[in-house]
Amino acid sequence: MKLKMLYSFLKADIDLIEKELEKAVFSSSPSLRDASLHLLQAGGKRIRPVFVLLAAKFGDYNIERIKNAAVALELIHMASLVHDDVIDNAELRRGRPTVKSEWDNRVAMYTGDYMFARSLEYMTCIDNIEAHRILSKTMVEVCIGEIVQIKDKYHYEQNLRDYLRRIKRKTAILIAASCQIGAISAGVPEAVHQKLYQFGYNVGMAFQITDDILDFTATEKELGKPAGSDLLQGNITLPVLYALQEDELKQRITRVNEQTTKEEMSEIIKLLKKSDAIAQAHALSQRYLNRALTILKDLPASRSKKSLRDIAEFIGKRKY
Ligand code: IPE
Ligand code: IPE
Ligand code: MG
Ligand code: MG
Repeated sequence: MKLKMLYSFLKADIDLIEKELEKAVFSSSPSLRDASLHLLQAGGKRIRPVFVLLAAKFGDYNIERIKNAAVALELIHMASLVHDDVIDNAELRRGRPTVKSEWDNRVAMYTGDYMFARSLEYMTCIDNIEAHRILSKTMVEVCIGEIVQIKDKYHYEQNLRDYLRRIKRKTAILIAASCQIGAISAGVPEAVHQKLYQFGYNVGMAFQITDDILDFTATEKELGKPAGSDLLQGNITLPVLYALQEDELKQRITRVNEQTTKEEMSEIIKLLKKSDAIAQAHALSQRYLNRALTILKDLPASRSKKSLRDIAEFIGKRKY
């Protein structure tokens, strides 16, 4: 089953957001415009706008108002990707050359900043101080998450807590905020929007753990970038933390640096896939998903609640 099928009743609204995103990144500066459109038109799952809309369905759903929050959340995500690819020195994103490789690091910095600024502009349509407080806090956390990731590179003594705190900051909080801001923008009562935040947080943790697993188990075509990129860049993800508990893998992994050959990387990936690391990482992702599903149970029954449940279940099995 495709992800899009899980919220097909929102198709008209998602199409509207897609058009709005194109308008949002329009600029009279050719390089800003071309670089933003380059990433936007490469696709992407648009999972954050989907969470904004689904959460808003628990309240007074007015697409003309909600679409601004949905656009804002996708723009923040895209800005963080453009900057992330500079930090990670990544060549490919969504199957296309990254902004930093098609243009250069300077254009990527400006493009990311431009998208952040546009995002704030869209948020001004949301007349609720709480929504803005959550959003700015989220942006601060994403920045800290990325900085901590640089600090923790090739740092093999880090533990599970370090990893979980990092992915909470760089990924889970943004997904949680997408749910909560969607709900607040639709006037959802506090008890419900806090539950939606908790749901988003747990789904977000599982989403990043799955992303980190797919970096080893998926193909280059599925990923839109070479497999094993995280490890090659020194990013110690959950499967790696588990793999470090095995002697042979530990010896090979701790020798990895940017000069490591493709052959050695594929040998490590092969060994890691044969070990218990993937299954252990998957089990932890499943625990977060189960928590997300339990939180959902307290919310009123609706088509949107069913979609949230389906998406959470999809994340546990996703291949892209
Ligand atoms: C990629 O996010 C970065 C992570 C937080 C895992 P997505 O997997 O949502 O990226 P796109 O938007 O679909 O390309
Ligand atoms: C996710 O980090 C990007 C942000 C949350 C800013 P990663 O470095 O793991 O994401 P990918 O793998 O490049 O998409
Ligand atoms: Mg990256
Ligand atoms: Mg990754």
